[in-house]
Formats: sequence, C-alpha cells, structure tokens
Amino acid sequence: MTSPTNIHPVFDQILTRQDKEKLLRQHSKVVWFSGLSGAGKTTLAKELEVILHNKGYLTQILDGDNIRTGINNNLGFSDDDRKENIRRIAEVSKLLVFSGVIALNSFISPTKEIRDLAIGIIGKENFIEVFVDAPLEVCEQRDVKGLYKKARDGKIKNFTGIDAPFERPETPDIIINTAELSIAESLDRLLALVLPKITYSL
Ligand code: ADX
Repeated sequence: MTSPTNIHPVFDQILTRQDKEKLLRQHSKVVWFSGLSGAGKTTLAKELEVILHNKGYLTQILDGDNIRTGINNNLGFSDDDRKENIRRIAEVSKLLVFSGVIALNSFISPTKEIRDLAIGIIGKENFIEVFVDAPLEVCEQRDVKGLYKKARDGKIKNFTGIDAPFERPETPDIIINTAELSIAESLDRLLALVLPKITYSL
C-alpha cells in the first residue's frame, strides 16, 4: 500500500489524551484477549466490562464476530485477511485509547506476527495482553458455535487450531486457563491486573 499524499494531519492542535483521561478520571488501555475460538475470550471481556462499568469506567468491547460483520466485513480468514483484520482493529483501538476509553478486545490473533503488529500500532505501554488459554480439546468439546464440527467435516477451511495455526503467546501479561478456573476466579485475576493500570492518578 502506498503512503497517502496531500493530507494535513492536525495531531498537535487537538485536545490531548490526558485531557480525556482527566475528564473520565481513568487511564485508558487496550486489554487484548487472544486465544482459540471457544476459549472464553468474549465471555470474560463481557463480564469484565460490566464490572468496570459498575465501578465507573468507560469501556468499549471490540469482538471478532461483531467487527467482522461491520468495518471488516470484506475480510476472511487467510493469513493476509487476518493481518488486515487485526491492523484495522489496532488502529481503531488506538483512537479509543487516545479518547481515554478502555478497549476490551477479543480476537483470536493467532500468530506472534499478528500480535506484534497490534502492539506496534497501539504501543506496548498501552497494551495489556491476556492469553485465554484453554486446550483445543476443551474448546472443541464446548463448540459453542458448532464451528469445530464444521471444520472437522471440512465445511470450513483454515479454522484456527484445526487446519490453521495458533501460536501460544510467549510473554502475555497474564494467562487465564478457563479449563481450570471458574469465571469468577478468572475475573478476580483480571481485575487484580487491570485495575491498578486504569485507576486515575495525576
Ligand atoms: S482472527 O484470527 O482474525 O483474530 P477473529 O477473532 O477476528 O479471528 O474471528 C474469529 C471468529 O470468527 C471465531 O470466533 C469464529 O466465530 C469465526 N470464524 C469463522 N471462520 C473461522 C476460521 N476459519 N478460523 C477461526 N475463526 C473463524
């Protein structure tokens, strides 16, 4: 893709992130949940959002299934499309962070390359990496959306964990094993990690 010409960004003439954070009395971050389909990413993001909302934090969930029906509805599951999916999501998340909003993102984000792309756009200092770790057998047994069966039957190609790769994150900020922890325990651990990072201080 070529770089745009004849554009005049005005990043220095607008209110700052700090102005927005002060207004909202929170520090903005992107909490990025990666993991296999069915690992529990969206469940945890949704529950975390309710808890944070009740504590007075402004959040926004971005989720694979939703984003792929809207802004990314022209993308599939090839390597290049997954990369473009994550690139756009990361750019949107960056806008949210600069608006002072806490983004809760659930995306398989299957490879190191893809996760590094997101971190590069969002900035390591803004990024909280949560690996929602459940063994493939458990995800496949849950098969909440019936997609693993379709993938095994050859009706869906390039399905993560079946015939497309998932590389385990090597250095996430936290690993939540949803096969071993209850949702309440998972949320306790997430809150212990996230709350100190978003609590407002000057
Ligand atoms: S990612 O790989 O590009 O990060 P993303 O999180 O946006 O994926 O979308 C994953 C969701 O799309 C899954 O939860 C599942 O419901 C659906 N899906 C449909 N086809 C596939 C596929 N081939 N591989 C993985 N997920 C798929």
